Amino acid sequence: MAVGNNNPIGIFDSGVGGLSVLKELKRLLPFESFIYFADSAHAPYGEKTPEEIYRYSKTIVDFFLGRKVKLIVVACNTATAHAIRKLRKQYAIPFVGMEPAVKPAALHTKTGHIGVLATAGTFRGKHFTKTTETFAKGIQVHTQVGEGLVEAVEQGNFNISGTTEMLRKYIVPMLEQGIDFLVLGCTHYPFLCEQIKEITGQRQIEIINPAEPVAHQTKNLLFSFNLESSGDMPPKYQFFTTGKEKVLKNLITQIGIHDSFEISEISPL
Ligand code: DGL
Repeated sequence: MAVGNNNPIGIFDSGVGGLSVLKELKRLLPFESFIYFADSAHAPYGEKTPEEIYRYSKTIVDFFLGRKVKLIVVACNTATAHAIRKLRKQYAIPFVGMEPAVKPAALHTKTGHIGVLATAGTFRGKHFTKTTETFAKGIQVHTQVGEGLVEAVEQGNFNISGTTEMLRKYIVPMLEQGIDFLVLGCTHYPFLCEQIKEITGQRQIEIINPAEPVAHQTKNLLFSFNLESSGDMPPKYQFFTTGKEKVLKNLITQIGIHDSFEISEISPL
């Protein structure tokens, strides 16, 4: 089978977080089929070395190529930071990665203070430093590692007090510094949006989830490579996880995929 327009798009993350990106992709590209890979056995990537993150990502890319995907979305900020450049050099297939949305926040802030919540791995990557230096000159960028949050989402612990307490510990100091934008620099965090909003309360804080611009970028790339689906077949959603299917399944339904999907639990690659 050659790679054709009706082949699926591959999308991966260290776990279930990339589903926040799939949600936007599905909305914008309703006729596309997707293969989602959740590498939950290796989550969190944020605490792994760049070499390990690259190795896991490359293995998933090879898995996707064996299934003839036409484009790959790296729905993980940490893998984007440490693997996408090398992957692009090595493979001809188009890749879309996550952008730390510092640019729109820096452009629109009125207080001159913006907050970024991400993994330690994302902050360590050159991409974040470069983006901040380029687009946030003269702006105070308050960075905070969301230690423990990826694990909480992976375990499905959204509404428990421990998770809210962690969020409070991370977000309140940024609010006290006067931020008016909070960038979610990890694809797991949009699933904690309700709890985050409870903490930001009545304050006029804009929460930025980069999933939407990433979905637009995917659409643009599909069209520029003439790879968009013909739309004459119903889309299929296939999920692979190296963890347990329970939380993944809950979130799949939460993002609006109710039927025509398959989940397989597989051993870590
Ligand atoms: N969803 C991943 C990201 O956007 C989480 C990384 C991790 O597993 O630490 O960075």
